[in-house]
Amino acid sequence: MVKTQFSSRLGFVLTAAGSAVGLGNIWGFPTQAAQHGGGAFLLLYLLLVFALAYPALVAEMAIGRRGHQEPIADLGSLAGGLGRLTGVLGLLAVSAILSFYLIIAGWLLGYMGDAVLKLLGLDWPWLTHFSLGRNLVLGSLFGLLTWYVVQRGLQEGIEKWSRRLMPALLVVLVVLACYVLTLPGGSEGLTAYLTPDPQKLKDPGLWLAATGQAFFSLSIGVCVMMVYASYLDRDASLPRLGLQVTLIDSGIAFLAGLLVLPAMYVAKAQGLQILDAKGQLISSDTLVFDLFPRLFDSLGAAGQLLSLGFFLLLTVAALTSTLSMLEVPTASLVARTGSSRRQASGLVLGAVLVLMALICWQFSWLFGLVVKVVTQYAQPLLGLMFCLFVGWLWRRDGLLKALAEEDKAFASSWFWRLWPSYVKLVCPLLILLVMIQSA
Ligand code: ALA
Repeated sequence: MVKTQFSSRLGFVLTAAGSAVGLGNIWGFPTQAAQHGGGAFLLLYLLLVFALAYPALVAEMAIGRRGHQEPIADLGSLAGGLGRLTGVLGLLAVSAILSFYLIIAGWLLGYMGDAVLKLLGLDWPWLTHFSLGRNLVLGSLFGLLTWYVVQRGLQEGIEKWSRRLMPALLVVLVVLACYVLTLPGGSEGLTAYLTPDPQKLKDPGLWLAATGQAFFSLSIGVCVMMVYASYLDRDASLPRLGLQVTLIDSGIAFLAGLLVLPAMYVAKAQGLQILDAKGQLISSDTLVFDLFPRLFDSLGAAGQLLSLGFFLLLTVAALTSTLSMLEVPTASLVARTGSSRRQASGLVLGAVLVLMALICWQFSWLFGLVVKVVTQYAQPLLGLMFCLFVGWLWRRDGLLKALAEEDKAFASSWFWRLWPSYVKLVCPLLILLVMIQSA
């Protein structure tokens, strides 16, 4: 069988960045920043992304490109039974993420439909009101959309759509942020976003939240980047491509902050409540689906256009991420059972939808639990395992030779001299430290 490959390096960067850029950037990052002291969270996040998550990303990519198969086999060839177990856990984690991600993505479809209907002078509250039926139907619809693209294959499906959608996402984001900044209250939000409150850095919860956010945002620990890197040719430079993906991902998160925080203060200027009695921003988990629709409603017809643009932006970001999440177990199933892509992706989607239905049914406690366990614990710990495998089991000379041959310029850089010991010792210790500190 011909090995699946990206059509170009740019195709890889846009597809991997498409996986990385998602609700984590446009919803998660700004809401976390809003909760955890604006600029303080931004600074800490950037530090952790480049000091912790980026080296771990290169380690995960290196495993995929070395093995060139699917995660269970790639990790097994490096670390035997423990590696295979880690691969299975990675596949379970990515399926769990997909199951809660589809619920939120379904809400996005609902709000987008609502904005279109309102522009036409119509109203269908079912689309935006929380209900088991709405969550199941719209989440499944988003799952089917994801399946439709994934079953078409890498180049014709995921890569083609990521190449189209990523530039569109950037344009919509910049246009919306520029517009919101011109509205009353926008500049106050900008100040809140960019001014660090150093006191907040003393809170261990902030460190755990920022680490989880960094790993979640770069899709680390769940074999997505491993699978995508296995579709790269042998002489592609992993540190360089990984850096481009990291820069795009953090850049979009930063830009999203320029939209979401100013929009919160625009809402405040419109008379909507965004601060609690203590003057803290109200718990922001529901921000996007609670405050924003009310803000858009208060801005009349322009608000409905803004709403359409905003939820379209989130939908595009979510789709390029769900594609990568469905791809991972699909790639494993295709490689291990020889089934067709269409069948394998359909089977995986079916299993994920069952899990999604369970979360919808027990939403009040299960949703938050799955999000927390997978993103704050499983992802960093799996990332840690990848670092340990690369650092301790891959012979240093072989590792350096394999990786340095692909990029002579990078091979002589300080990054290359430090990286092997860094992923061997520093990354695992830092990840553990953050976890223990905040336990
Ligand atoms: N990395 C994806 C996101 O940030 C899952 O949403």
